[in-house]
Amino acid sequence: MEDLGVVGNRKKIYAFDGPEDAAGAASREWNRLTQKAIEARGRSVIAVSGGRSPVGLFKKLSNYKEGMRWKKTHIFLVDERFAPLDDSASNYRMIKENLLDMVDIPKTNIHPVQIEESVEISANAYEKEIANFFDLKKNEIPRFDMILLGLGEDGHIASLFPGDNAVSERKSLAIPITLDRLQHSRVTLTLPVINNARKIIFFITGEKKAFAVKGLLEDDGKMPAQLVKPVNGEMLFFLDALASSLLSK
Ligand code: 6PG
Repeated sequence: MEDLGVVGNRKKIYAFDGPEDAAGAASREWNRLTQKAIEARGRSVIAVSGGRSPVGLFKKLSNYKEGMRWKKTHIFLVDERFAPLDDSASNYRMIKENLLDMVDIPKTNIHPVQIEESVEISANAYEKEIANFFDLKKNEIPRFDMILLGLGEDGHIASLFPGDNAVSERKSLAIPITLDRLQHSRVTLTLPVINNARKIIFFITGEKKAFAVKGLLEDDGKMPAQLVKPVNGEMLFFLDALASSLLSK
């Protein structure tokens, strides 16, 4: 593992030879933060992204049977495609097949985006579920113990895409996304929720992401990923050699 160093005391970048090593390290970080959260608050509340990148990480996590204390861990989704939960496009299905079905996490600890009659209704329902779970007061923003993000080649995170006004949403916790370029409408957490997390972990692998990673870590700009800045937390990057290959050091 090559520690690319701490960029400020709130951003740590770790580059690994391969995705397997990155997944191993990220799963150990997940385990550490979960133990700390449970000691401090009796539970660990995590929101995870979908897509393909986290599959290897979820598989590593599924090996943590007892120690991870799944009974005190709650899993939310950072974003979801508006498709049936058993559809191949569903992030919930991917997370269920690669992690949730393999560990003894209570069903009541799993918080999928419910697919209702419309994506707007789903987004509303998800926002209400989050508000109830965290027992939020009016205008209060939830504080997840960890939010796991991937990175799109265009610099998107969650379902917040470049040029979409949704990136600027500062009031709602979860919103609907409908863009012509997307095969499915989406429900996504908003930036204020993401930036309020105690720990934000980017898990990024593969050569296709190298350009976006360089932009994210070394250039100024307005990619949605560049707007991820924890207000009172830490940001960790777990990268493989291919994804970090364009970084200057
Ligand atoms: C999604 C994800 C999305 C993902 C990026 C990267 O629903 O697709 O939540 O934000 O993290 O698109 O996707 P890959 O990991 O598949 O490259």
